[in-house]
Formats: sequence, C-alpha cells, structure tokens
Amino acid sequence: MSSTTPAGTDTSTDTYKIAVIGAGGKMGMRVSNNLVKTAHTVWYVENSPAGQERTLAAGRELTDAPTAVADADIVVLAVPDLALGPVTADLVPQLKPGAIVLTLDPAAAYAGLLTTRDDVVQAVAHPCHPSIFLQRQTPEEWADTFGGIAAPQDAIAAVESDDPGHKAIVEATVRAIYAPVIDVHFVTIKQLAQLEPTLVETVACMIGALLNEALEETINTMGVPAAAARSILYGHTQVALANGLRGDNPFSDACLIAMDYGRESIIKDDWKKIFRDDELDKNLARMLHLPAITR
Ligand SMILES: NC(=O)c1ccc[n+]([C@@H]2O[C@H](COP(=O)([O-])OP(=O)(O)OC[C@H]3O[C@@H](n4cnc5c(N)ncnc54)[C@H](O)[C@@H]3O)[C@@H](O)[C@H]2O)c1
Repeated sequence: MSSTTPAGTDTSTDTYKIAVIGAGGKMGMRVSNNLVKTAHTVWYVENSPAGQERTLAAGRELTDAPTAVADADIVVLAVPDLALGPVTADLVPQLKPGAIVLTLDPAAAYAGLLTTRDDVVQAVAHPCHPSIFLQRQTPEEWADTFGGIAAPQDAIAAVESDDPGHKAIVEATVRAIYAPVIDVHFVTIKQLAQLEPTLVETVACMIGALLNEALEETINTMGVPAAAARSILYGHTQVALANGLRGDNPFSDACLIAMDYGRESIIKDDWKKIFRDDELDKNLARMLHLPAITR
C-alpha cells in the first residue's frame, strides 16, 4: 500500500507535537532542517556537546528529554542504532498513552532491542533516497543524491498499529522529515529489514563499493589511464542499471557472454541465502555488534 502526492506536496493540514532525540547528529540535523520549515511543534534534544553546538548553531533551541517527550505525539529517535535500547528504556516509560516512537532504521526494532509499551506505538521509517531514474530538473536536484534537500524521493514506513490516526501521524512526519517526498510505502518492520539492509546495503551498496574496487584495480594494477577508466565505467554503469533494472535496451550478445563469465567468477551459487530469516538475523547481529539476535 502506498500513498501518493505530487512531488514534495504534503496534503495534510494536521500539525503534531514532535520530539527529535539526537537532533545534532547526521540524521538529526537533516530531519530538523526540514522540520523547522513545517507548522509542527518540534522539540530538539541532544546530549553530546558537539551535537548541542550544531543544533544551537543552526538556530534551534535545545530541550531536555523528559520535557520534550512528555506531550509528544511522536518521538523521532535519531540516535545511533546501538543507543536505541538504552534510549527507549529511558524514554518510552515517560511517553503519553498513544504516542508513537519512530526509529530511522529497522535493525534494532526487528531485533527486538527496543523497550515497548502496549499503549505506545512502534514505527520505523527509512528514506529511499532519490531514484537514479528521477527526472531531475535543477542543479539543486542533481546535487541532492541523499534526498531531503531538493530531489524528491520515496520513503518506506512500518507502523505497528491498525489505527489510521497513528498511520496519519507517521506519514505526516515522514513527509516532513524526508521532504520532498513523493510516495510513502507502508510495509511491516520485517519487510523493511528485508529491504534495508538486505536489498539495498548488502546487495546494492556492496556492488557500488565493488565497482570502485574494480576501477581502482583497472587504474592501479593494470595501469589504464584513470580518466579513461572512470569515463567508461560511469557511462556503462548507467547502461547496466538502465538495462538491468528497467530493460531500456537488451544487453548485446557479447556482453551477455562477458556477464556470464563475471557471474561465474564473482558470485557464489548460494548467494540468495541472504534473503533467509536466519541470514538476516546474522547480518543484523553483525551490524548491531551482538553475538546473536535473540528476539
Ligand atoms: N546516517 C545515515 O545516512 C542514516 C540514514 C538513514 C537512517 N539512519 C539512522 O538514523 C539513526 C541515527 O544515525 P546517525 O547516522 O544520524 O547517527 P549520528 O551518530 O550521526 O547521530 C546521533 C546523535 O544522537 C546523539 N545522541 C546519542 N544518544 C543520545 C541521547 N540519549 N539523547 C540525545 N541525543 C543522543 C549523539 O550525540 C549524536 O549527535 C540511526 O538509527 C541510523 O541507522 C542513518
């Protein structure tokens, strides 16, 4: 299920009370820079001196956590994944009934590390980042590869509640913090973990880093001029993604033979095991620096 508006348009006129915990971190600054442009009531909480300095330098006031969360409709936890256990243990008991706790990554929620309450809703949202196929119009949109500044992107959300009111608050918050947002796709927390890390970090980001390693090898070991290697790789990467993901053109017969050689040489036969539940748990345990996931 997804909800669509024209790029960057938030059709909701409802305003909410939002607490941002970790407001001076990387995501905290990104979401706060967008929340200040909305009519929502927002409290900013940050406990490190450097993060407090960044928050104040951006012209935002700091609030202590108990004050910020006491009346919040939704609490955005922009703290490191490893801090989510202790932070939820501290804050969740202080929330009003019906409040929503929103984390920005599914790992800790799926691993069962968060303190929960029957009358507090758990939610997770992750930005999709602007699509490689987005029809960017302006230099600002071209420059915004992460999203949340100028280039429209989708977002994925999971809300552990059947109450449409809770979903509406999460969607409004997600549209605000990751603006401009086109679609918000609703999935389960487990599906969000199957998307991120498995699909997009374990596979897509790994392949991005592998491309760079191959480029370095071509330049440094094989001695091919760097400008030539970069130029042909960047262009062919676009063709590989456009043909591979969207079927823009068929790969040539010779290319298909070279691709088979690459698959046989580089990919393990059982690679799709990464989508199994036990492998997802292994992946998450490594990411969360835990010996195992014991949900
Ligand atoms: N960085 C990314 O690109 C990215 C993208 C999507 C989602 N996320 C998710 O966003 C969340 C935050 O990640 P980040 O990269 O912004 O982390 P970060 O380390 O850059 O920032 C975390 C901030 O939280 C603060 N903090 C820690 N404990 C706190 C507490 N108890 N009270 C108040 N402030 C506290 C820290 O001082 C720091 O400023 C994580 O769940 C991460 O998985 C990150």
